[in-house]
Formats: sequence, structure tokens, C-alpha cells
Amino acid sequence: MTGPVPELAERATACANRLLEADHVLLASHIDADGLTSAAIAAQALERADIPFETVFKKQLDEDAIAAIADTAYETVLFTDFGSGQLDVIGEYEDAGKLTPIIADHHQPADRETEYHLNPLLFGIDGASELSGAGASYVLARALADAQDGGAAAAADGGTLEAADETTARADNRDLAALAIVGAVGDMQASGGELHGANAGIVEEGVEAGVLETGTDLALYGKQTRPLPKLLEYATDVRIPGISSDEAGALSFLEDLDLELQRDGAWRRWAELTSEEKQTVASALVKRAVSRGVPASKIDQLVGTSYVLCEEPVGTELRDASEFSTLLNATARYERADVGLGVCLGDRGEALEQARTLLRSHRRNLSEGIDLVTREGVTTEEHVQWFHAGDRIRETIVGIVAGMAMGNAGISRSKPIIAFAEKNDEECKVSARGTHSLVGQGLDLSHVMSEASQAVGGDGGGHDVAAGATVPSGHEDEFVARADDIVADQLS
Ligand code: C5P
Ligand code: C5P
Ligand code: C5P
Ligand code: ZN
Repeated sequence: MTGPVPELAERATACANRLLEADHVLLASHIDADGLTSAAIAAQALERADIPFETVFKKQLDEDAIAAIADTAYETVLFTDFGSGQLDVIGEYEDAGKLTPIIADHHQPADRETEYHLNPLLFGIDGASELSGAGASYVLARALADAQDGGAAAAADGGTLEAADETTARADNRDLAALAIVGAVGDMQASGGELHGANAGIVEEGVEAGVLETGTDLALYGKQTRPLPKLLEYATDVRIPGISSDEAGALSFLEDLDLELQRDGAWRRWAELTSEEKQTVASALVKRAVSRGVPASKIDQLVGTSYVLCEEPVGTELRDASEFSTLLNATARYERADVGLGVCLGDRGEALEQARTLLRSHRRNLSEGIDLVTREGVTTEEHVQWFHAGDRIRETIVGIVAGMAMGNAGISRSKPIIAFAEKNDEECKVSARGTHSLVGQGLDLSHVMSEASQAVGGDGGGHDVAAGATVPSGHEDEFVARADDIVADQLS
């Protein structure tokens, strides 16, 4: 068995075998969509392997968080969606015999190794675009099922063919591929409209297992849940004059089409349209974009690959990987990771209802944050642009806001954006976002965040295209100056 990502198979098997030796495991994960789906995948794999475990979530895996983990009664600790970047600190506890780390992560590793370390970057796979934390956890989950060798037996005793397929998918953990794809999409790994590399291999397994469907579709956010006029009005990645950010324009565009797009007085949603209806709306949209002078390269971005969780009901957030990931961010980034985990584990009652309530306020916070940044503008340096939100944007979402504001009036897409928000009286959170095009020119924000923060007594890391840090308050100007110099070097 080589598993879904052959390069990682051997290391994944070693990690799986080590987990099977443990009496019980502490599962520690990160508080965003990728971290939650990572935890949900690992939790189900551990449960199915009869390994007792407990789950904890951390906003950041800093020294205090690692000390608290080392202090628990658990010897074996499974870190998902973080751990690699903190291996320098984790390694000290390992050396002292305080814990055995098993890490399924995709962030830039610190300068130190450990035996059970599953990270695509160690095997020549890009951790920012080819495999997420949830993807690494999925590879581990698949190896765990193989290592138990219960897979074949469970597959053999199925009744009908379909039942046998489903039993097999569960027995070898392939049904968890859907969550892995929600994690990858949540970490914005789909570039140029689709997932690539190892992620594409996981998509294939999910399709075979019957939990995922893919197709070429309109690449707008909200195809499952947004009423059609809102879907078009709020879509701003590709701006179509007279429709984007234009309530009346979006309405009249739809009303002018010769289609029944309302039912019982309410606008229908994209996901409910027939393929003919979709075709008509999409062609009209493209025609309008062309007539308003939107460049062909932008028009191409209107179409992409959709990742549909086909076992979830039509018209719900759970059916679309992108909407699902936003629903999860709406829980975990507001200290309700338990709610998001519940949804991932199948709670369609109370957890889902709470998640939807949290989603409404998350949406409001994002939109208010984006308005604030766009209204007040950014300060532009030679190579970076930045803003300081103080306590007006929550530190856990300031990075999402920065990324979504890029491209708005006055906020360039040709320089990375650095965002500050207050964390507490002594510390500031920093989030940085770039574009794939800047990364192509040499930008590596993980390096920028790590170097510039350490220069002012903080710490940071992440990915080339998106990274973060914590710095002592009062050092923001010095941090920006450092970052500006490092970006200058990278882009020269
Ligand atoms: O912790 P972590 O890996 O999960 O976070 C990734 C973050 O980077 C997400 O918030 C995601 O939106 C952001 N990102 C981005 N643009 C990309 C890739 C990732 O803003 N192209
Ligand atoms: O940074 P993170 O991965 O959490 O961002 C989620 C992404 O989902 C945003 O960058 C944005 O593209 C999309 N989104 C959106 N509308 C929302 C919420 C999220 O387009 N209301
Ligand atoms: O928090 P934010 O969304 O800006 O994080 C962007 C990326 O940087 C994430 O992948 C996150 O895990 C990483 N990060 C980090 N160290 C920090 C803060 C963020 O590695 N101190
Ligand atoms: Zn991640």
C-alpha cells in the first residue's frame, strides 16, 4: 500500500505504528478550518483504531501552550496543522522524556527534526498549495487503517456491492477525504480555480469513495446558500461593473434574463438551478463582463472547479467545500472549536445550529473589517503596505480581512499586505498576505514574518503566501522596516 501520497507513505506508516503502540493519545490542533478538519480526521481515525484520545485546540502553539501540553498525563501527543514550526521547543520536551510528538503538519519546519514528523515540505511537496494540515492528517488516517489490517476483513463481509463500497471506504478511512478537501480549500490551496498535486490525489479518492463530486462551475462564493442576487452582488474577486457591489444592478441583470429565478416570492440559489439555467446565467454574465471591458484573464477566473460534498443536503453550507470552511472558521476563531468539531464529526443538530449563528456574526465582522480597512486605507512603504487595526478587528480574523481587502480601492495586489491587531496589553498579532504572482517573483512571507518578528523579540512563521507572527507592542514600526528590507531582497 502506498496510500494517497506515495512520497509520504513510509513516514505515515511509521507514525501510524507509533500511534498504535500508545495507551492513549492527546490530539492537539489549530483553531481554523484546516485545524478543525485535521482534528476531525485524526479523531475519527483514532476512534476507529480503538485508540483512546482527548482533543485540545490552541490558537497558537507557543511556549506556554507546549508547556501545558507536556504537563498533561499524556505521553504520546499527536499535533495536527501545527507542530513543525515549533519543533525547536517541542524537541526540548522530547529530549527531557516529557512527550513523544507525532506531527501531521504542512507549515515551514523549525531547524530541528524528530522521528514521527509527517510534513509534505520534507518530501518535496509544497505545503502552501499541494497539501494542507487536513491532507497530512488524511494521509496519516489512511496509514492507520492499513496498519491495523482490519480493512480487508471489513470489506469482504459487505452485502450489496454498494454497501461493500461504503464499508470499504469507512474501513480504509477514504470517506474522510471530504474533510481533507474542506481543509485544503479553507487554507486557500486552490489556485487558478482548482486543487493541485497531492490535493488532487485526495480529491480522486474522495470521488471514488462517493463522498465528493467535482465539476466545472461558476467560481463564486456562496453557490449553495446565497440567493442569486446576493451571490452576484457580493462576488468581488472578479469585478463586473454594474453587478459587483451593486444591489440594484445585480437584481436587474437577473430580472432581464428570460428565466424563472424566483419561487414563492423568494430568489432561488445557484445550486438549485438546472444545468440549462446555470448555463444561461453564466453566459449572460460572461457576455456582460466582456461588454464592460473586463479582461479575458479575469473572465477566466469566473469559472473553476467546484468541490461538492455530495452526501450533504443541497442548499446547505456543508455541501460546498468553501462555504463549509468558512462555517468552521466562524466557530474556531471565536473560541468555539468544539462547535466546529461537532459539525465535522456529524452533529447536524445543536452544533450545526450554533455554527450557523456564529457564521452570521463572523460574516458581519469580516464585512465590517473589510469596510474599515478600505475606508481608512493602508500605509504604503517601498515594498509592503500595512495597517494597524488596534482592537477594532479581532486578532484571529485580521489576516482573513487583510487578504479579502487586497484589491479593493487603494489596496494594491502588487505589494504584500501586513496587518496588525492588538492581542493583549503587551502583544500584537501580525498577519501577512501575498499573492501567488508575488510568490512566483520570490516572495516568502514565512521567512519575512519569522525574521522580522525575531528581530523585535517576537516569533512567527507560516507559508510563503500567508504568514503570521506575534510581536511585543510598540515595535510595529521597526517590524515594518525590517519586513520592508527583507521583501526588497526577496523580490530583487
Ligand atoms: O494556519 P494556516 O495554514 O491554516 O493558515 C493559512 C491561512 O493562509 C488561511 O487563513 C488562508 O486563508 C491564508 N491563505 C491566503 N492566501 C493563500 C493561501 C493561504 O490568504 N493563497
Ligand atoms: O482566510 P480564510 O481561509 O479563512 O478565508 C476564507 C475565504 O473564504 C476568504 O478569503 C474568501 O475568499 C472566502 N469568503 C468569502 N465570503 C465570506 C467568507 C469567506 O468570500 N463571507
Ligand atoms: O493568523 P494568520 O491567519 O495570519 O496566519 C497565517 C499563517 O501563518 C497560518 O498558516 C499560521 O499558522 C501561520 N502563523 C505562524 N506563526 C504565528 C502566526 C501565524 O506560523 N505566530
Ligand atoms: Zn493549515
